[in-house]
Formats: sequence, structure tokens, C-alpha cells
Amino acid sequence: MNEIRDGYPYFNPSFGNRPLHIVGREKELSLLRTGLAGAPATELRAPIIIGQRSFGKTAMLIEAESMAQSLGFACASVAVNRSMLQNILDGLLTSGSSAIAKKAHISDVSIGAFGVSFNVSVTREMDEVKGFQAKLGIMLDRLSERGLGGCILVDEIQPNSEELRELAQAYQHFSGRGANVSLIMAGLPRCVSSTLNDKVSTFLYRADRILLGPIATDSIYLYFKQAFGSMGIAFAEGEMLRAARLSAGMPYMMQLVGRNLSLMAPTDGEVGPSVVNEAVDLAKEKLERNVFAPCLDTMSERDITFAHAMLEDEGRSSAADLKRRLGMSDADYQQTRRRNIDNGIIVSNGYGSVSFAMPYFAEYLRREG
Ligand SMILES: Nc1ncnc2c1ncn2[C@@H]1O[C@H](COP(=O)(O)OP(=O)(O)OP(=O)(O)O)[C@@H](O)[C@H]1O
Ligand SMILES: [Mg+2]
Repeated sequence: MNEIRDGYPYFNPSFGNRPLHIVGREKELSLLRTGLAGAPATELRAPIIIGQRSFGKTAMLIEAESMAQSLGFACASVAVNRSMLQNILDGLLTSGSSAIAKKAHISDVSIGAFGVSFNVSVTREMDEVKGFQAKLGIMLDRLSERGLGGCILVDEIQPNSEELRELAQAYQHFSGRGANVSLIMAGLPRCVSSTLNDKVSTFLYRADRILLGPIATDSIYLYFKQAFGSMGIAFAEGEMLRAARLSAGMPYMMQLVGRNLSLMAPTDGEVGPSVVNEAVDLAKEKLERNVFAPCLDTMSERDITFAHAMLEDEGRSSAADLKRRLGMSDADYQQTRRRNIDNGIIVSNGYGSVSFAMPYFAEYLRREG
């Protein structure tokens, strides 16, 4: 029994970790699985996961990697930077070697020998050619000879990256020739939209987009029931559901609320309304600092003025009202609206109305903006 009840391993609010369970993303996971398990060269083989800060992009990528490994892919997980292309080749090599060693082990041949010889021979072969595409081609061929595909996972995609452009071109080349390869990318809404505008590659326009919005309260509630049940933490009538609702569909918020409740739960009684309120308030403070403040930093004066004009409305704001309040021409309105949508601050609700994309953001803006 854990002496300190801090909610671990059920709740572990930090960034870039693998949660014990991916809550409420069954549809998204199933899209990823369909792509990986299906035929090569389909659009689902190159999905882009889009989500605001803390909505679970990295968590989905970690899950996708594990899914890909179990479906027979060697995987390379990288971030966009100068050494990205080299990291991809290194990652595929390491993951391929270990998958081959594992297979050899299962069939009881001398442990790891195949993995090591794969590593040495592929490295030697790659050294003989120049350029990322040629090296990747050798890698994919050699993996394929051993019954493995290649899955490349790129987190935090950035516009204006020469490396990303080169990767996209190489992917398009091999995928077009039916190679068993997959490219799964993730990024903030703003970065994804500018990357696509950046003409990285025409195929990216057609890539499947997996949008990580808020998760369902029902899913959070079910997870709370299971987690708090396992920890032996009891709640007063209706309070667990209220805590789930107040997590507002945000995975990071859910993790924070869950951890706070675990820490604050009385050892000799039920969690009541005051504990829920305090746990949620503390969670909101962290959410504001780690998610909302960085979002606000990316907004221009004009974007912020636009968002402020929305605060008069509860929920949806109509275009006509906003234009009037802002005194903006239609062209200016459309441009600012577009920027806020691309930045993941607002969403369009069909014709002529917008609302905030992130729960609690309006509340924060009212106080801070
Ligand atoms: N579906 C989910 N179920 C449970 N926990 C989740 C889920 N998605 C993410 N989390 C948890 O929420 C937190 C934030 O997730 P993650 O780091 O994946 O977000 P992110 O979108 O990559 O954020 P950033 O843009 O800052 O990189 C982590 O603690 C993660 O374990
Ligand atoms: Mg991340």
C-alpha cells in the first residue's frame, strides 16, 4: 500500500508522460490503429494529431508508438530539430534491431545475434549512400526483408523546417511506391496550420487530421470511479460526477484534479463539496500557468481584442455582434477570426458564430488579458 496518497499511478499530471490509461480517445486511437493495421500508402498512414497545449498530443504519440510496435513496425520518435533526420535513422535502427532480436529469441536462436548483425550491416550499407532519402530507402528495404515496417513519429511540428520538408518528401516517395511506412505527426493548431501553408509537401494537405478536443465527461467520470475505487477513496453523493464535470474535458486538468483529490481526501470519511472545490481551484491555477499563459503569449494585440469582444456573450458569439463591437471591416474581422481559429483559441460553430475552444479560457481572459 502506498503511504502517501498522491494518486499515482492513476494520476500523474506532467507533460510528455504516458498516462496509465488513455481516457476518452477511443475513436482517435481506433483511427490510428486502422491506419497502421491497414494497407500502406493510404491517407491514414500519415495522420496529423492536432491539439492545444496539454490536450494529449504527446500521450497519443506514445500510445501510437506502442501500438505500431505491436503491429510489427520499427519506430522512431523524434522532435523537429536539426538532428531530426539522423535521429529517425538511429531510432529505426535501434527499434528494428531490438524487434529482430525479440523475434529471434522467441524462436530460440542465439539471443540478440540477429539484431546486432542487422544493426552492423544496415549501418555499413547506409554509410555508402548520400542523403536522407537514400538511407531511409535502405532502412525500409532491410526492415521489410525481416517482416517489419517503419513508423516515424514526429512531435511538436514546426513551420519552416528544412528537415521536415525533406522527411515529407522522402515519405511521399516511399509511400507512393507502396513501402510499409507510416508517418504520424503532432503539433499545436497554429504550428500545424503554418506548416501546411508552408508548402512542406502537397501530400500533407491531404493527410488525415485527428483533432484532440475536450474528452467526454462520462469518460472522465468512469475513470474517476475506477481510480478512486482502487485507492479506496469515497465521495459524497454527486461529488465525483461534479469533479469530473469541472475537469472540463481537458486531460491535464483531469490529471491535476485527480491528483489533488487523492492528496486532499480525508482518510476517515468521504470527499465532500469543499474538498472538490479546493482541488479544482488549485488545478485551475496550474492550468492557467502552464497552458493558458503560454497561449496568450502567442496572441497579437488584435487577436486578444477580438477574444475580449467575445466575453460579453455566454457561449456563442455571432459575427454581426462581434463586428459591431470591434468596429472592424469584414476583411479585418475574417482575418483575425481565422488567426484565432488557427491558433486554437476559438472554434467556428458553423455559419456566423464562434466560441472559445478551451474551457475556462474565457474566465482566465476576463481576469488576466
Ligand atoms: N487521453 C488521456 N487520458 C489520460 N491522461 C491524458 C490523456 N491525454 C493526456 N493525458 C495526460 O495529460 C497530460 C498532458 O498531456 P501531453 O503531455 O500528452 O499533452 P500535449 O498535448 O503533448 O502538451 P504540449 O503541447 O504542452 O506538449 C499528461 O500528464 C498526460 O499523461
Ligand atoms: Mg507534448
